[in-house]
Amino acid sequence: MTQQTPRQMHLGLFLQGAGHHVAGWRHPDADSGSENLALLQRAAQTAERAKFDMVFLADGLTSGADAHPSFAVRIEPLCLLSALAMGTTHIGLAATASTTYSEPFHIARAFASLDHLSNGRAAWNVVTTSYDKSAANFTRGNHPAHEQRYAMAGEFVDVVRGLWDSWQDGAVLRDKSSGVYFDASKVHALNHQGPFFSIRGPLNVSRAPQGHPVLIQAGSSSDGQELAARTAEIVFTAQQTLESAQAFYRDLKSRLRKYGRQPEHLHVMPGIFPVIGSSEQEAQDKYAQLQSWVDTTGELSPGALALLSDRLGHDISGYPLDGPLPDLPESNQNKSRAKLLTDLARRDNLTLRQLYHVVAGARGHRIVCGTPVQVADALEEWFLKDAADGFNIMPPYFPTGLDEFVELVVPELQRRGLFRTEYQGRTLRAHLGLTVPANRYD
Ligand SMILES: Cc1cc2nc3c(=O)[nH]c(=O)nc-3n(C[C@H](O)[C@H](O)[C@H](O)COP(=O)(O)O)c2cc1C
Repeated sequence: MTQQTPRQMHLGLFLQGAGHHVAGWRHPDADSGSENLALLQRAAQTAERAKFDMVFLADGLTSGADAHPSFAVRIEPLCLLSALAMGTTHIGLAATASTTYSEPFHIARAFASLDHLSNGRAAWNVVTTSYDKSAANFTRGNHPAHEQRYAMAGEFVDVVRGLWDSWQDGAVLRDKSSGVYFDASKVHALNHQGPFFSIRGPLNVSRAPQGHPVLIQAGSSSDGQELAARTAEIVFTAQQTLESAQAFYRDLKSRLRKYGRQPEHLHVMPGIFPVIGSSEQEAQDKYAQLQSWVDTTGELSPGALALLSDRLGHDISGYPLDGPLPDLPESNQNKSRAKLLTDLARRDNLTLRQLYHVVAGARGHRIVCGTPVQVADALEEWFLKDAADGFNIMPPYFPTGLDEFVELVVPELQRRGLFRTEYQGRTLRAHLGLTVPANRYD
């Protein structure tokens, strides 16, 4: 009789050098800086020691002195992951790249290169870039509408996957006796002509160790879910309640069948912002202390308002801070996060100031304050009740916010059999239980 391996959760470290909490860098134990390589390397190694599936670097295409400290300046994620690859051996390496403001050839090349450098640990978080202010940094005219961005993204991903098949396994021969370096019959031009992209190929990187780097998708609107159902292997999402997370999980997984895919071909990973204490009160106090560093003058800074305006998709700086969230039309920018925050504000009757305080910590992701056992309970519940296949862990500050999770919560999850104690393979696909995609030319 074959023994069935029990299902285990997947864990990602959502790494941001100045922490996830907008004021996390002010914590006495925090070291910070999105360009602080020693800190970032240490965090990736800590996550690897804890057997995390991957470390993830988000990315945006705008900046300013009023931005979140983790976003205002940061090392370009693929450059940084190449450096992190050198100091790690097993952990997956995931980064965001935009389908609205990049070229498919560049993206295919960069992620295939990272997969080679890291021996099969690369993943691409496909985003369409929500914020319309991004357009001002590129010479392409206006920010495209939401629907068009997702149409472009669909074609973009197809082209990238096509380029990743350019070289079949065995195409590079290096046969000294015959003088044949390449087997030309195993090298393929894509010759793609579509509504948005026109790309001949082949790619100038050989077949990646994972076949294709792992594909992640992070938009939760209906268009985002449809793209994910067709192409993604991981979905990042923000969810506040068990019920909403379960509904999202069910909805997304039910869309897979029409693309010939099974539920286990895609892992849903909501974000979790853990605040850990030796008692629940201590964790609550720690969270309150972080919040106290946010709004010290009684007036929110323009940066604070920008963070909330971005997430809502509308400029809210003209509204009274101690009044309710106004009725805002659906935005072209960020549909699922705007809806999540609007639902939350209506449900809990929050003022704009209170809503900002929610966003300052976890930007709409789930905040879990408690003892290590309580944090493990929270993860276990969502995992066992079909709300998640794993979690993206978002420490409020680094390195100690991560260290506490790794030293106190991970062993508790392992004790319960919910998380691995050793890696079973060397590639990110192996950690995720995902197969290597067949090459279309094989
Ligand atoms: C965990 C997580 C990480 C994300 N990372 C990025 C990112 O790095 N860059 C980006 O532009 N958007 C990022 N997003 C935002 C999504 O790509 C998307 O724009 C947003 O969720 C709105 O999508 P929707 O309009 O389909 O609802 C992220 C979302 C989540 C949940």
